[in-house]
Amino acid sequence: MAAVSLSSSSIFIFSLTTIFLFSISSWEAAEAHPISTLINKKLYNTLFLHKDDKACPANNFYTYRSFIKATKWFPGFGTTGSLATRKREIAAFLAQISHETGGGWATAPDGPYSWGLCYKEEINPGSNYCDDTYKQWPCYPGKSYKGRGPIQLSWNFNYGQAGKALGFDGLKNPEIVANNSLISFKTALWFWMTEQKPKPSCHDVMVGRYVLTKADVAANRTVGFGMVTNIINGALECGIGSDARVNDRIGYFKRYASLFSVQTGPNLDCANQKSF
Ligand SMILES: *[C@@H]1O[C@H](CO)[C@@H](O)[C@H](O)[C@H]1NC(C)=O
Ligand SMILES: *[C@@H]1O[C@H](CO)[C@@H](O)[C@H](O)[C@H]1NC(C)=O
Repeated sequence: MAAVSLSSSSIFIFSLTTIFLFSISSWEAAEAHPISTLINKKLYNTLFLHKDDKACPANNFYTYRSFIKATKWFPGFGTTGSLATRKREIAAFLAQISHETGGGWATAPDGPYSWGLCYKEEINPGSNYCDDTYKQWPCYPGKSYKGRGPIQLSWNFNYGQAGKALGFDGLKNPEIVANNSLISFKTALWFWMTEQKPKPSCHDVMVGRYVLTKADVAANRTVGFGMVTNIINGALECGIGSDARVNDRIGYFKRYASLFSVQTGPNLDCANQKSF
């Protein structure tokens, strides 16, 4: 709904003068430079070479169409900053969701980093990820808030908040994240775009908008792909030296950045960073 009214307003603005186009909002940036110009279907299929293999439980779920449609709900995504910044943000996002859903192994066909988007839900969850100290996001009896979708959305408080932001009942119907590919991609982009204090948003970090705080400096956190890993799973993966999970994320990012013809930027790991 919002997308429809905003696109007509941007056409109106465009007909008045193009000068405003660059200053008004990221809506106009998204309209003028859709991310489909940076990632077409061919590149998408090259990044995710095996997502539709029979061996992948998510085969035929994570469609290009759903991905592009979901990005339209988040007009700042992949539209902020220079061309290189835009490509780097998209590559970083796709790399992180590839680690979360990856089905590769060291000697896998086409290498370990060609197997992103293979899974849509966590296979052997250790719990139902209900933290009942979050009173405002009460767990619904019998429901599991295990990892689902591209970012492997987990925990009642994330399902509750994502559902509220995106218009579904995340607490009562968490399964929809593994059943509806548009909603599924939206949950991953919601997580990417949304600041959850004291963590910044992954988006702000990757577009260079985030300014380090004193706490970051004290924790030896630096801006880059490693900080994004810290936001996503730092409590388990960061500040413990070289870590296979962190290196897997970096492996995807390097392959994708190369396919996007963009540099990865500095600070790829979080080996020496304390978590948030
Ligand atoms: C929805 O996804 C769950 C797994 O999270 C699955 O068990 C269930 O069968 C799916 N329901 C539909 C209607 O596809
Ligand atoms: C901070 O991180 C850098 C790498 O980014 C590392 O070389 C340095 O030793 C770290 N310092 C501390 C105090 O951990």
